[in-house]
Amino acid sequence: MPDYAIREFTIEYYDEAFSLWKDLEGISLSGADSFEGIQSYLLRNPGLSFIALKDERLIGTILCGHDGRRGYIHHLAVSKEFQKMGIGRALAKKSLGAIKAIGIQKCHLFVVSENFHAQKFWEQTGWLKREDIIIMSYNL
Ligand SMILES: CC(C)(COP(=O)(O)OP(=O)(O)OC[C@H]1O[C@@H](n2cnc3c(N)ncnc32)[C@H](O)[C@@H]1OP(=O)(O)O)[C@@H](O)C(=O)NCCC(=O)NCCS
Repeated sequence: MPDYAIREFTIEYYDEAFSLWKDLEGISLSGADSFEGIQSYLLRNPGLSFIALKDERLIGTILCGHDGRRGYIHHLAVSKEFQKMGIGRALAKKSLGAIKAIGIQKCHLFVVSENFHAQKFWEQTGWLKREDIIIMSYNL
């Protein structure tokens, strides 16, 4: 188990986070992940998103927010060399604890359908795969 710290995700970590996301298959990036997009997300959802740091180097992220009714998780990511050491589980636990504390009772997340290892991870950490819902999107 590596010695690492979990801290709130603040915008000063954006560049390191973005380069981690770019390096990992399974993280879908879009215009919403620009500096301004993530800054706006963090400001709108304070205290819910976290990073993992090893010797001041960012090795993990999780974004968590809500719409007042349900919570949503995005961009759970752990550097390849630190995967399978419990860091993803610890980041998810931290965000779920924080969002529960403000009264949200259920969270959803999106997984790319070919990302089987992430699906295994989420099932292993207690999440239920929904077969009864499809996602629909609309570009504004
Ligand atoms: C998914 C991800 C965040 C998991 O992080 P991690 O730190 O490696 O996960 P953990 O070590 O906390 O694993 C927690 C549990 O999930 C299981 N798990 C993790 N990765 C797994 C894999 N590739 N296949 C099967 N099970 C896996 C572990 O066995 C562990 O179970 P256990 O505690 O009972 O042994 C990491 O693999 C990653 O960054 N992947 C690339 C980005 C990505 O796909 N993110 C998810 C987007 S939805």
